[in-house]
Amino acid sequence: MQIFTPSFDRRVYIFLLVILATTAVGIPFALYALWPGNVEAGYAPKQPIDYSHKLHVGELGMDCLYCHTGADRNAVAQVPSLATCMKCHSEVQTTDSKGELTANMQKLLEHWDAQEPIRWVNVHNLSDFVYFDHGRHVGYWDPEKQRQVKRMECQECHGPVEEMEVMSRHASLKMGWCLDCHKQEPQPDTSPGLATRGPLHCSACHR
Ligand code: HEC
Ligand code: HEC
Ligand code: HEC
Ligand code: HEC
Ligand code: HEC
Repeated sequence: MQIFTPSFDRRVYIFLLVILATTAVGIPFALYALWPGNVEAGYAPKQPIDYSHKLHVGELGMDCLYCHTGADRNAVAQVPSLATCMKCHSEVQTTDSKGELTANMQKLLEHWDAQEPIRWVNVHNLSDFVYFDHGRHVGYWDPEKQRQVKRMECQECHGPVEEMEVMSRHASLKMGWCLDCHKQEPQPDTSPGLATRGPLHCSACHR
């Protein structure tokens, strides 16, 4: 027995198909948007080796640029290679109370012996449709002094890194965060590099 006309049935099928297609696209999209690693502040993934900024920067007093070379002039801040770590750790080898290498030290040395890079997990990852340049933010070329001058501390955006046992994301990296700073009044013109603020037009960041 037929209750509905065939054309009505077809419409029901199409309706169901549309619902199905929407959830198939919608759920992964929602997951992506809500996943802490993509948009939220406070994201602190487990790293393959328990490297501590608190120890190396806070206690040993190392400079950020020793490891993140060029973050003050290049677009991208580098995460250091093992060779940078081994400048010290070929000598400094932490042992436990029994005099054996700690698990973290063993891992570090195994990677070095095998010449196998450590796969650090990205803590920050802006979408590809956003343009960001570290160098332009951290420093600027002062034509009078004829050298690169500091504009901003790393901590303004990355928070108190020297206290972080585990690296965690300080700012959300959402558009509103960038714009909040770009909208601020420029500082009094003590130096040409500070007497400027960031652009607000869309094409500055979406090129
Ligand atoms: C001894 C080397 C070393 C020094 C010094 C150092 N870092 Fe790092 N940094 C690393 C390593 C290794 C990682 C990757 C592992 C991790 O995230 O903990 C990293 C990760 C980071 C990240 C996250 C990168 C990402 O994946 O998005 C930021 C931001 C950062 N460092 C900022 C700083 C700042 C700011 C300073 C100075 C206050 C600093 N670092 C000093 C070695 C160093
Ligand atoms: C300027 C020298 C220096 C550099 C460069 C350096 N470290 Fe260290 N690191 C130290 C010192 C000093 C200690 C403390 C050693 C101790 O307490 O026995 C240490 C401790 C550590 C520890 C703790 C060991 C444990 O098991 O408790 C880890 C892990 C570590 N470093 C990883 C790294 C990594 C990864 C890099 C490269 C990104 C790096 N270090 C670069 C000097 C350095
Ligand atoms: C104006 C804000 C700002 C300042 C100042 C800043 N950073 Fe960043 N940093 C960011 C943003 C935004 C990202 C994410 C970039 C991306 O994913 O493309 C980032 C990413 C990083 C990364 C991961 C690698 C990369 O480039 O994606 C490291 C390491 C890092 N910053 C270190 C530093 C250090 C060291 C300093 C100081 C010399 C510094 N940052 C100053 C905003 C800033
Ligand atoms: C703490 C303040 C601050 C934050 C946060 C900040 N900016 Fe800026 N930005 C500035 C200042 C100041 C300038 C002006 C630099 C100049 O004129 O050289 C600037 C300049 C720029 C420029 C133009 C220079 C260039 O590289 O072409 C771009 C693009 C830019 N910012 C993108 C971003 C993005 C994307 C974010 C967020 C992920 C961001 N900024 C977060 C302060 C900030
Ligand atoms: C200072 C840099 C900056 C400027 C200027 C800027 N944006 Fe964005 N925009 C961003 C960042 C950062 C994101 C977030 C990227 C992410 O989530 O990874 C973003 C995300 C977006 C998105 C995706 C939806 C969302 O909110 O995450 C749209 C659409 C967008 N911007 C449009 C615009 C338009 C239109 C303008 C001009 C009125 C503009 N943007 C100006 C930095 C900027």
